Amino acid sequence: MNINWYPGHMKKTKESIKKNLSLVDIVYEVIDARIPFSSQNPDIDGILGKKPRLIILNKSDLANKEANKKWQDYFKNKGISSVIVNSAKNKGLEKIIDLSYMLTEEKIKRLAKKGIKNRPIRAMIVGVPNVGKSTLINSLSKRKGTKVGNKPGVTRANQWIKIKGDLELLDTPGILWPKFEDKEVGLNLAFTGAIKDELLDVENLAIKLVERLNSISKSFIEERYNILVGHKAPYDIMLEIGKRRGCFIKGGEINFTKTSYIVLDEFRKGLIGKITLEFPN
Ligand code: GTP
Repeated sequence: MNINWYPGHMKKTKESIKKNLSLVDIVYEVIDARIPFSSQNPDIDGILGKKPRLIILNKSDLANKEANKKWQDYFKNKGISSVIVNSAKNKGLEKIIDLSYMLTEEKIKRLAKKGIKNRPIRAMIVGVPNVGKSTLINSLSKRKGTKVGNKPGVTRANQWIKIKGDLELLDTPGILWPKFEDKEVGLNLAFTGAIKDELLDVENLAIKLVERLNSISKSFIEERYNILVGHKAPYDIMLEIGKRRGCFIKGGEINFTKTSYIVLDEFRKGLIGKITLEFPN
C-alpha cells in the first residue's frame, strides 16, 4: 500500500481518528464505488461506534450505475445512509450536505434544549488510501467553503473548512488501512490503482484483470479492443490486445509489459466501461 501498515502504526492511526471523532458530529466514510467491500476498513464499525455515519460511494462515474444503486440499497438495509458521488466533478455534494443535517438533527436539537444554539455541525472524512478523500475535501471546500481559523480548545493542527451554512469539515482526513489479509481484496485494490504498480507484477495483474472482466461480461474487452474473446485464455487475449495496439519488441514479439500498462490504465480511467467489480451478496 501507499503506506506501510504495521500494528503500531494502525494503533496510532486508530487513536488519532478516535481523538478527532470526539470533535465531530458526523463521519463521512469514503469508499470506492467500484469496490465498496474491498475499499472499506475492516474495523470501521468498531472505530466509529455510534457516531452518525454517511457512506460516500465515490468515483461513481467509473462504476456501473445499477450497481451503485444496489450498494446504496444494501447499506440502507443495514441502516446506514449513503450517497453516490463523483467528487472529481462535484456531483452528489448537495446530498452530502442535506443528509448531514438530517443525520445530526437530533443532536443539534438536544444541544439547543441545553441552551447551546447556532452551534455548527462538524464533520470529518475517513477512508483507506486512494478512495478520493482529498478530492472530496477540495470539492466540498471549493464550492462554498472558506477556511475558518483554529478553534479554541481544539488541537492547533486542526483547521475547519466552512462548507455551507453552519456545516464545517475537518481539513485533514483520517487515513485507514484496508483489509489487506484478504487476497481478493488486494487484487481489487491493485486493479483500481490503490496500490502502486511498482510494488506489483503488472503483467500478472493485467492477466488477472482480463480474466475478471471477462467473468463479468466478455463484451468489455471485445468492444474496447475489437477482438473475439470466446474461450481464449486471458494470456492469449493479452497477446491479441498487444497486437491490436502495436505493442511490439524487436523480432515482432509482443511487448507484454506495455500491453499490461495499457489495459490497467484504460480500466482505471473507465475507458473499458463503467465497471463495478464487487456486488452486494
Ligand atoms: P490518499 O492521499 O492516498 O489517502 O488518497 P485520497 O483518498 O486522498 O485520494 P485522492 O483524493 O488523492 O484521489 C485519488 C485519485 O482518484 C486521484 O487521481 C483523483 O483525481 C481520483 N478521484 C477522486 N475522486 C474521484 C471521482 O469521483 N471520480 C474519478 N473518476 N476520479 C476520482
